[in-house]
Amino acid sequence: MSSPVQTMDAKQLYKRLLTYVRPYWLAFVVSIAAMLVFASTEAGLAALMKPLMDGSFIDRDPDIIKMMPLWLIALFIVRGVANFLTTYGLGWIARNIIMNLRTEMFERLVNLPSNFFDRHNSGQLMSKLLYDVEQVASAATDAILTIIRDSLTIIALLAWMVYLSGMLSLIILFTVPIISLVIYKISSRFRKISKIIQDSMGDVSHISTEIIEGHREVKTFGGQDYEIARFDKVNQTNRRQRMKRLTTDAISQPIIQLISVLGLSLVIYLASMPEVLDTITPGSFISFITAMFMILTPLKRLTKVNAKLQGGIAAADSIFTLLDQTPERDTGTTRLVRAQGLIEYKNVRFSYNSDAGQILNDISFTAKPGQTIAFVGHSGSGKTTLVSLLARFYNLSSGLIAIDGVDINELKLADLRNQLSLVNQQVILFNDTIANNIAYGQKQHVSNEQIIAAAKSAHAWEFIEQLPDGLATEVGQNGVLLSGGQRQRIAIARALLRDAPILVLDEATASLDSEAERHIQAALETLMKQRTTLVIAHRLSTIEKADQIIVMHAGQIVEAGTHSELIAQGHHYAELHRLQFQEK
Ligand SMILES: Nc1ncnc2c1ncn2[C@@H]1O[C@H](COP(=O)(O)OP(=O)(O)O)[C@@H](O)[C@H]1O
Ligand SMILES: [Mg+2]
Repeated sequence: MSSPVQTMDAKQLYKRLLTYVRPYWLAFVVSIAAMLVFASTEAGLAALMKPLMDGSFIDRDPDIIKMMPLWLIALFIVRGVANFLTTYGLGWIARNIIMNLRTEMFERLVNLPSNFFDRHNSGQLMSKLLYDVEQVASAATDAILTIIRDSLTIIALLAWMVYLSGMLSLIILFTVPIISLVIYKISSRFRKISKIIQDSMGDVSHISTEIIEGHREVKTFGGQDYEIARFDKVNQTNRRQRMKRLTTDAISQPIIQLISVLGLSLVIYLASMPEVLDTITPGSFISFITAMFMILTPLKRLTKVNAKLQGGIAAADSIFTLLDQTPERDTGTTRLVRAQGLIEYKNVRFSYNSDAGQILNDISFTAKPGQTIAFVGHSGSGKTTLVSLLARFYNLSSGLIAIDGVDINELKLADLRNQLSLVNQQVILFNDTIANNIAYGQKQHVSNEQIIAAAKSAHAWEFIEQLPDGLATEVGQNGVLLSGGQRQRIAIARALLRDAPILVLDEATASLDSEAERHIQAALETLMKQRTTLVIAHRLSTIEKADQIIVMHAGQIVEAGTHSELIAQGHHYAELHRLQFQEK
């Protein structure tokens, strides 16, 4: 696959993420200042224990007894404000980054070439837009919070402990590394399990979505038991992994506490030795132990930060990979307001991937303005591919396609596509009203009367009129509330309203019954008047009137001519024709 994207290394990713933080540098600076203040209040809290014990309880100093509560309140006010500023500041930055990234991703998605969508499924793309973005922002802000605030807190507390008693602080040298190691081990196990949980959640949602969307197939083919068994398996996996995680968590808490208590016991033991006992007041001792316990929480977070960062980096990589996809090329500069409708294909060759086989081979034909050119051939012979090249959904391998004598690559993409109306076999309707579906993309310029006129010409008005809400009827997701024929007629109304000089009909009637087809046939004939039309039709009767019929086989034109000419020649087309009449 010729993807221009290489996976970036972590450093580049940080740098790039930082560019998203830059506009909010002021909030960032304020947050960091607030973290500094917060960290000092933590040490301050431990420090307060010393005068609290020595001054209030031992010396019974009335000044200290009076001041103590005020000090505590003041400390907590400062701490609270600092905490709020940090949380609010980082949160504000994170939400802005999330919004900006989403906007960028969406704008990129709308402009990506068709082959990108051929290669990716919508589930993957959705999860980038929904989860990856959130994960990046939360990992980034959490990591900043932990790395800066928690390290500062730990340093402040350590400094206080050393100040109190250098001798006792030696304990830290033993306990901290051991606790860090334990937490690190546990968190890497957590990460492994979390990944499995994430995957199994993916499976749970994947299987559920399939049976929700395919509920008819599940029912008609009696797939209930199979689906239940399949679901049961992933559901079980999910439970097992969650239990593993829960067990790890449940075991780790007591282990960490035990190690801390070992440290504490050692401190108490050392403190009881006469050499130490003389140098330390009860207040210092309590203050020391308080600080020791207060170190645990930030330490725990600090040892977990790497796991969090790794998750964030993976998500950032996934987001930037999407953002780095090359959008559709629009290098054309020639403007085209309204084409005459002359279409020329000259020696067009095409393949979807450079490593896959040739799909179209040396295709040449000309459609004069107002003519109808029909394409017939077995399924897979390249008809859809051939007409989709006209809209530049894909780039040619070689050859040329021209409209009014201008290479379509030289036209501005928007202008080129403005000349085309497409009606496909699979009609895509948007979850909106009938009126908005008919007027899709040109709502600002059209009146209700024009929409109704288009609906009438498309023979759609007959059924729209019958609906309780008429044009304002909501069609449901992808138009599920309408029948296939109704959807098709709305698509034709949409094409009529668009009033483009070139019309492409790709099996527009293939899935309809003959009653619906009769309606649509009339609608199509209205649509084809005074337009250059490329029509791919399943039923040969719909194309007998075409100015030229092109017969495709395995990506090549094997025959071309009018209906009567081709019948007279007695080759492929005549054969197809004969087969179809036998079917009837
Ligand atoms: N998006 C795509 N990516 C890769 N191959 C494709 C794609 N669409 C169609 N093909 C292949 O191109 C060939 C022609 O397909 P198509 O143009 O849809 O034929 P037709 O419309 O005549 O049935 C088929 O072999 C098909 O497998
Ligand atoms: Mg096709």
